[in-house]
Amino acid sequence: IGTFLLALAFGYLCGSIPFGLILTKLAGTQDLRSIGSGNIGATNVLRTGNKGLAAATLIGDMLKGTVAVIAAGYFGGPDAAIAAGVGAFVGHLFPVWLKFKGGKGVATYIGILLGLFWPAALAFCAIWIAVALIFRYSSLAALVASVVVPVMLLWSQHTALAAVFAGLTAVLWIMHRANITRLMNGTEGKIGKKG
Ligand code: G3P
Repeated sequence: IGTFLLALAFGYLCGSIPFGLILTKLAGTQDLRSIGSGNIGATNVLRTGNKGLAAATLIGDMLKGTVAVIAAGYFGGPDAAIAAGVGAFVGHLFPVWLKFKGGKGVATYIGILLGLFWPAALAFCAIWIAVALIFRYSSLAALVASVVVPVMLLWSQHTALAAVFAGLTAVLWIMHRANITRLMNGTEGKIGKKG
């Protein structure tokens, strides 16, 4: 239980680094929380018009999940890796540094998956790209891709991981509740449209 809690805390610390905020602050762009959706993730960084910064945010928010999982797995084994992954996801959503108001978890979800079972992360990205190309909504692409992940994990006999990711997907959907309302109203912002 000690290893488990340590991995959870370590994951939380990694996940709570808000790359979007840090990078936009360093670059001197507008405060993310006052533009577009107000979210601190890569989709909203793209609404500043800076594609490179958006890509860097995506990579940073992703890799903090991957690094947490791989490091915890190396020192504590497979269960610690999963605990660190969950910790990183929670850290991104509810970072203590931002009064627990973080992001929506898409990039970090992919990063954790990359560290735990990379084929499902590739599938997530392929589905995300396909949905995004057709509909131009980042949120919709993530919502669809995240439903496929637990199914794919179950299908490939990773039962415990499937259960964990079913939980993460449910939380990811809850974090997107405002996006879901906007998608239904037809008022959701499309990818790349400046906010
Ligand atoms: O998680 C990012 C994406 O799914 C939605 O981002 O800024 O449009 O709420 P945003």
